[in-house]
Amino acid sequence: MERFEKLLDNYIDQLPESRVREAMRYSLLAGGKRVRPLLLYTALQGYGINEEKGDPFAAALEMIHTYSLIHDDLPAMDNDDLRRGRPTCHKQFDEATAILAGDGLLTYAFEVASSADTDDHTRLGCVNVLARMAGAGGMVLGQDLDMNEIEGITAWEDLKRIHHNKTGCLLSAPLMMACVIADHEADMEKWHELGEKLGLAFQVQDDIMDIRLTPEQFGKSTSDENNDKVTSVRLLGIDEAEYLMNRLYEECMKMADTFSGFDSRALKDLIEKIKTRTN
Ligand code: IPE
Ligand code: IPE
Ligand code: MG
Ligand code: MG
Ligand code: MG
Repeated sequence: MERFEKLLDNYIDQLPESRVREAMRYSLLAGGKRVRPLLLYTALQGYGINEEKGDPFAAALEMIHTYSLIHDDLPAMDNDDLRRGRPTCHKQFDEATAILAGDGLLTYAFEVASSADTDDHTRLGCVNVLARMAGAGGMVLGQDLDMNEIEGITAWEDLKRIHHNKTGCLLSAPLMMACVIADHEADMEKWHELGEKLGLAFQVQDDIMDIRLTPEQFGKSTSDENNDKVTSVRLLGIDEAEYLMNRLYEECMKMADTFSGFDSRALKDLIEKIKTRTN
């Protein structure tokens, strides 16, 4: 993924020099796992398409994901000090700059995606997926529910809806984009579902790691308990949460085999890597 890191750096270089640009670069190039871009590249591989075709969309996804983390860490939200092994954006810069860095990444993502050198159908389809999955019917909705409705939640079904939106949507987006690029739109809804399932597994795992790991190991603050957050671990207990996580990853593996014109081997390897991640 060294190529991808350079790609992101080059995109940031194209903006005028400013404090907000440096804050955007600081958070974007802080060494995230790049799960969403990897999902796009791997799904393209499964369809037999050259990964470079996904470059602007992969970069846009990582920009939107990074903006969501910058805002998620703000004092008004999770109030965290550590992210990707470094001080959070508002700690390193200041709150106003962190808000603007998030705004800048969100907006730039759409500039980058809409300037992709592809046919109009692909470009428009991918931009539409990005907007739908990131916005107030997707990740932003999930974050809203996570801030404002989570406290009263006692049923797993209700927490599931939050996890689907706040985490699942941005994992569905790369799979749906690959489906658009490959011209297999009939399978769009099924890719959406697979991403939701993967997002659920991923967020349950994140909730488990928040309890089990130290901030040094995790590379980010482990604040769920301090924030008195209703998480999958709190609702289900850690053993049940772990059982559920494993079952969900298994279901994702099975589902990956059900797409027409798609070789699922690389995607299943990636899902296995995500499942066995250490941070
Ligand atoms: C963190 O996402 C937020 C969640 C959805 C749990 P990642 O675990 O993908 O974070 P980075 O990109 O590797 O930092
Ligand atoms: C947030 O979930 C997911 C986002 C949409 C940013 P968390 O609040 O659990 O993510 P971390 O643990 O801070 O990465
Ligand atoms: Mg949060
Ligand atoms: Mg958080
Ligand atoms: Mg978390």
